[in-house]
Amino acid sequence: MLDDVEAVVLVGGKGTRLRPLTLSAPKPMLPTAGVPFLAHLLSRIRAAGVRRVVLGTSYLAETFSAYFGDGAALGLELRYVVEDQPLGTGGGIRNVAEHLTAADVLVFNGDVLCGTDLGAVVGTHRRTAADVTLHLVRVQDPRAYGCVPTDADGRVLDFLEKTDDPPTDQINAGCYVFRRSVIDTIPQGRPVSVERETFPGLLAAGARVSGHVDNAYWRDMGTPADLIHGSADLVRGVAPSAALPGPTGEVMLLEGAKIAEGALVFGGTTVGRGVQIGAGARIEGAMLFDGAAVDEGAIIEHAVIGAGARVGQGASVVDTVVGDRAVVGAQCELRGGLRLWPDVILPPHGVRFSPDV
Ligand code: GDD
Ligand code: MG
Repeated sequence: MLDDVEAVVLVGGKGTRLRPLTLSAPKPMLPTAGVPFLAHLLSRIRAAGVRRVVLGTSYLAETFSAYFGDGAALGLELRYVVEDQPLGTGGGIRNVAEHLTAADVLVFNGDVLCGTDLGAVVGTHRRTAADVTLHLVRVQDPRAYGCVPTDADGRVLDFLEKTDDPPTDQINAGCYVFRRSVIDTIPQGRPVSVERETFPGLLAAGARVSGHVDNAYWRDMGTPADLIHGSADLVRGVAPSAALPGPTGEVMLLEGAKIAEGALVFGGTTVGRGVQIGAGARIEGAMLFDGAAVDEGAIIEHAVIGAGARVGQGASVVDTVVGDRAVVGAQCELRGGLRLWPDVILPPHGVRFSPDV
């Protein structure tokens, strides 16, 4: 149990890729399998035995504190530290230093859904007497991440943030163990990127930076497509969480939701509070936020339907984000990464892909 370790969760920066679309809430508070996304990460931290967690953010701390409070309901001691201006990942860590007392500190990117054994990551850190240990995973396309080659002893050789020509498919999973004294060496009061400045600097100075590689479930929830797939993985129990509000399965049905007979809802779909689904609708792997409505015969696949939004009769919505309160008119066809802004109303037949009608 990691009761002698503290955790820092970074939930700041831009973080806006979904914000104008669905909600006024910051991204880590987006409902994911029935609870704010951040609740899943916090539940994993608690399950590993960590109690004290500092949330380092550059915006809207009150949205987090209004929901999580002092953390007691989760078995945590939760504190919030807000940056005056976004300080970047390294600056965000440095900014919470005065709240840390443990010798080893776990740091998390707040937008990652992960099933790794945190005890094992800390174990690697201690066994190798590292200054910093990085959790690493292998992905198909490493270009959007920090590429991190290691040697046969698991020693990190290089850190290449978002490079077009990555030398390995092994990437930074966004979970680190820092020796506390290393955090104190990060410059204070200015933006610092841990990926572009701190890690390369430590390597150049000959510090011991260890990699902990495993095959755990892992997904960065930064894009709508990843959010949708990660949410479905949570609902189906593929991604581990101790914060789910109901049993795992094909559907997570929240209070007051109603699915008409003859509708088919599956693939890890979340049906939010008070959602109404009409007869003959077919919904696969989708996120339906509270109060959304899906009319008869509509088809929804791998999409987010915002709170209070409506998908009209016979409409088809695939790989799309529909903003809060927006209306997709009957027989409309939306697909291919499209994002419909909140409150926009598409009339019946207003958008089509197929040439008929
Ligand atoms: N407090 C604070 N302040 N947090 C920040 C700031 C800031 O100024 N900027 C970013 N963050 C937080 C984000 O909220 C997110 O949780 C985390 O730091 C990482 O930022 P992203 O913007 O999501 O970065 P990324 O996904 O492109 O890349 C990072 O994550 C990858 C793994 O998911 C890097 O760490 C990559 O190296 C890594 O592979
Ligand atoms: Mg990210």
